[in-house]
Amino acid sequence: RKDVGILAMDFYFPPTCVQQEALEAYDGASKGKYTIGLGQDCMAFCTELEDVISMSLTVVTSLLEKYQIDPKQIGRLEVGSETVIDKSKSIKTWLMQIFEEYGNTDVEGVDSTNACYGGTAALFNCVNWVESSSWDGRYGLVVCTDSAVYAEGPARPTGGAAAIAMLIGPNAPISFESKYRGTHMTHVYDFYKPNLASEYPVVDGKLSQTCYLMALDSCYKRFCSKYEKFEGKQFSIFDADSFVFHSPYNKLVQKSFARLYYNDFLRNPSSVEKDAREKLEPFSTLTGDESYQSRELEKTSQQVAKHLYDEKVQPSTLLPKQLGNMYTASIYAAFASVLHNKHSTLGGQRIVMFSYGSGLSSTMFSLKLHDGQHPFSLSNIATVLNVSEKLEARHVVLPEKFVETLKLMEHRYGAKDFVTGKETSLLSPGTFYLTKVDSMYRRHYAKK
Ligand code: ACO
Repeated sequence: RKDVGILAMDFYFPPTCVQQEALEAYDGASKGKYTIGLGQDCMAFCTELEDVISMSLTVVTSLLEKYQIDPKQIGRLEVGSETVIDKSKSIKTWLMQIFEEYGNTDVEGVDSTNACYGGTAALFNCVNWVESSSWDGRYGLVVCTDSAVYAEGPARPTGGAAAIAMLIGPNAPISFESKYRGTHMTHVYDFYKPNLASEYPVVDGKLSQTCYLMALDSCYKRFCSKYEKFEGKQFSIFDADSFVFHSPYNKLVQKSFARLYYNDFLRNPSSVEKDAREKLEPFSTLTGDESYQSRELEKTSQQVAKHLYDEKVQPSTLLPKQLGNMYTASIYAAFASVLHNKHSTLGGQRIVMFSYGSGLSSTMFSLKLHDGQHPFSLSNIATVLNVSEKLEARHVVLPEKFVETLKLMEHRYGAKDFVTGKETSLLSPGTFYLTKVDSMYRRHYAKK
């Protein structure tokens, strides 16, 4: 099987969002903290009408329609999510309604969960299935769906919500270079959800930032060494055209790319540009721990990598900056931003992806792009994603309304016997939404 990977994508996010500048003022944070400090513009959130199940129903239905895929042609469906609605029944089983209707119940796969990494686990499962001897010739389908909400406090502006769907098969315009994968998994308590009565995580913000960067370093080293083993030459950031990171907030992405450049400098000083080499020289003897603490290194490496960031990373930042952290969907929304911004020039390029989920699981992997053939072409995927129009159609609400919505959702989390409001005017046609939860906690959805 050749070029197994992503054939098609579709993307959905709720129509309501709050501006970070307004939230900053409302929260009494210093001006610029969320917009410049975290690097975020806007944050999407679900109202009482939507959740991870409805968003995934919406995005899967839309993908099948837009690429005219027969639901009987799906042989495996995997969902990545960390938003718990039911501790036993998978989100995947909800999506089976779409396939049952066409007489297709022969669909493998369930949900994968580990913070923001579940979508990558789901994606690897589908790609591995297509590459394996149990493949039956049909498509795989991966769905990443999350609603990221935090308790009041410094983490609240780093929420977000979206669902993304990816069709998997051979001869894909976005194929996996499966030989180059670097993984790093360890046990830490940086972000977790031990309180089952609440949707909010417990988060050690500072620790989660350091864990993310340590995982990045470790994955990058392993990724490089695998590349070097197969290619017989050193890897540096100049060997990839784009880098796409899991994006909890944009500032961490800026720091991450600078960190890769610093790694290149440490591994082989002559692989970085002369000016950068001179500026990074004072940091060449820092221990690992010292390097994570050094503000000077952070500043200097970001400064020397800035022009490369603009070229190799900036195109991926659109959706994560506009929608916030979409947990499992975050890295794939960043990838969708690259397709949106650069689809006509991506043929032949390599994109390196870094997926991180607290707790922790992380992998760096590589994708190779080909223009592809309609409907599975990069330009058609960009058309279907329809990013600009979707962003423009959003409805900006005031922070007061956002906070009020979160209060209602706190109340509703885990509750039974309620109906949702009838006001669905903000939802576009074809959107699924929650109508009620009955006395047996069974959820009911309708399609607008
Ligand atoms: N203007 C410009 N920049 C400012 C301003 C201002 N007025 N005020 C603060 N800043 C800068 C800070 O200097 C800092 O930037 P730096 O990191 O370059 O120094 C940045 O804004 C954030 O300020 P902090 O004081 O560090 O923010 P705080 O500690 O209050 O919260 C945090 C940030 C920890 C990320 C919090 O939002 C959080 O816990 N989020 C959830 C956890 C998370 O996303 N972790 C990432 C990986 S794990 C995952 O994906 C869930």
